[in-house]
Amino acid sequence: MISTSLAIDSKLPWVGTTIFTVMSKLAADCGAINLSQGFPDFQAEPALFEAVTRAMNDGRNQYPPMAGLPELRQAIAGKVESLHGARYDADHEITVTAGATQALFTAIAAFVRGGDEVIVFAPFYDSYVPAVETVGGRAVYARLRFPDYRPDWDEVRALITPRTRMIIVNSPNNPAGSLLTADDLDALAELTRDTDIVVLADEVYEHIVFDGRRHLSVAAHPLLSTRSIVVSSFGKTYHITGWKIGYVLGAADLMAEFRKVHQFNVFTVNTPCQIGIADYMRDPARYLGLAAFYQHKRDFFREQLRGTKFELLPCHGTYFQLARYDAVSDLPDRDFAVWLTREIGVAVIPVSVFHHDGRDDRVVRFCFAKQESTLAAAGERLRRL
Ligand SMILES: Cc1ncc(COP(=O)(O)O)c(C=O)c1O
Repeated sequence: MISTSLAIDSKLPWVGTTIFTVMSKLAADCGAINLSQGFPDFQAEPALFEAVTRAMNDGRNQYPPMAGLPELRQAIAGKVESLHGARYDADHEITVTAGATQALFTAIAAFVRGGDEVIVFAPFYDSYVPAVETVGGRAVYARLRFPDYRPDWDEVRALITPRTRMIIVNSPNNPAGSLLTADDLDALAELTRDTDIVVLADEVYEHIVFDGRRHLSVAAHPLLSTRSIVVSSFGKTYHITGWKIGYVLGAADLMAEFRKVHQFNVFTVNTPCQIGIADYMRDPARYLGLAAFYQHKRDFFREQLRGTKFELLPCHGTYFQLARYDAVSDLPDRDFAVWLTREIGVAVIPVSVFHHDGRDDRVVRFCFAKQESTLAAAGERLRRL
């Protein structure tokens, strides 16, 4: 160990190890079934691995263009146009990123200055606020109202000030499993009309939407598309979270600013994975089939919990199922998550960690991006409660 004598004035004094790391480690230590962290325990199709291997063997191993390989950007443009009727120019309005987390950080660093305010809806994905604070911005919190996790646009209106620089939205929402509706997007467009507020739309679960509902991208909204950076992740779509590869869409002027930071942040994203994904994306069934694939898993998992004292909340999208447990235990949610992992052998995430103020509605999050055998084994343990 090397120790330092420097007096460190931390930019993020409140940040420690994330709950995802903590719960995954606890799950491993206790031999619990890990339904906490959001990653699949199954493989992507061999065709994807073959396409990447082929690219490596063909010698495609050096830096690609800064914004991403043209063939991948073209494939993304084609997908976005066919899904949303929105035409993003592959040269100027699409950038390939090292996953959504880098895309989010880069967008925040590109547009938020010291003292600027960024409106974030709680519960929220955990990377937003540290990114805002690292660049000297201030998070201002709106609430997705429990238990249906709907935004309250009057509340948002009251939070907007001349310092508001950005609003971050996430639909389908992690952890809530809720979706923004057409009315929500219209309300957001109306609130931001005649302002310079940038909308940062985290749409990483864009293809995981259930029961015949549609994902409504801000990219398809005539007003919002002009002020938004839209973020997606191939990790979620193709079961390759460890590859850390995604992309952003945005109007050319916004994208030019995004790329100024991207260029000196990661510069480029690894070449063979970009080639492999561009090739694999040619078959739209591979992303269009994702909703049915995960809906089946959601229904299978919910069936496992039928008859237990958990109250399952609606899950319209993502691969997360929220459950109220107040009929099972009086423990605060963090303690309950640890207890469930240690004593019952199923690891979950307490939803209070997605709130800035630790708000605890006695709800935990299960990840159902797992093989049926994993979900069945977890169900068997949970039914003992
Ligand atoms: C809402 C949300 N945004 C962003 C990310 C990060 O995606 P990536 O792994 O591509 O960085 C995640 C991953 O869990 C997420 O749930």
